[in-house]
Amino acid sequence: MKRALFISLCSAALLSCVRGVPSDKPPIHVIQDMHKQPRYNPQSESNFFADGATMREPVPGTVPQGWLPADSIYYFGKDSQGNPVAVSPVLVTPKLLSRGKERFNIYCSPCHSRLGDGQGIVVKHGLNPPPSFHSDRIRQFPDGEFFDVITNGVHTMPSYGDQVRVEDRWAIISYIRALQLSQNAHLEDVPPEMRGNLK
Ligand code: HEC
Repeated sequence: MKRALFISLCSAALLSCVRGVPSDKPPIHVIQDMHKQPRYNPQSESNFFADGATMREPVPGTVPQGWLPADSIYYFGKDSQGNPVAVSPVLVTPKLLSRGKERFNIYCSPCHSRLGDGQGIVVKHGLNPPPSFHSDRIRQFPDGEFFDVITNGVHTMPSYGDQVRVEDRWAIISYIRALQLSQNAHLEDVPPEMRGNLK
């Protein structure tokens, strides 16, 4: 009994030394669990796989959790026939608009300008100007067409599918609609009781 106590005190003392003392050596790992296993480092060479690389592609058809793009309207902006949807499936709220404004100003305004007239700062440095969002042609774009342009790019515009998440693409589209309205509003768009405030 005394011996057992002695041993457990000694091991407690030993373990307490191991913790909290700076050392260059790897920590003493008394209970290994399964922490040490054979593995490959990222980007390293393999003698096992035919292409000589240890990094593998996911099995075709693999879907990360929470990413099943079953809803073609939401994830691709297209209906079941593959046509761009006229109206976004996402309910427009003040929160969505302010998120859209933030994302638009980050991702789109450098080229399209904060107003969407195609005169962003990059244009001043020589980029061929993008079309204005206030032209009749783009005002008539279905929402799904904007979604496609953001996801895949168009001609000289790069794709933003990797940078802008699906929910943010819809937020940006709702904000572009607000920008379009702001540049083409009529007196009748203002509630009668507020028309007196217009200057
Ligand atoms: C690096 C500059 C750049 C950025 C950033 C950029 N665009 Fe563009 N965009 C362009 C150019 C250039 C064109 C014109 C492409 C062409 O037709 O040659 C264009 C065209 C478009 C068009 C019209 C497509 C058509 O069919 O005429 C839309 C809509 C559009 N962009 C939306 C967006 C949105 C939304 C974002 C932000 C997520 C964005 N763009 C970010 C450069 C940019």
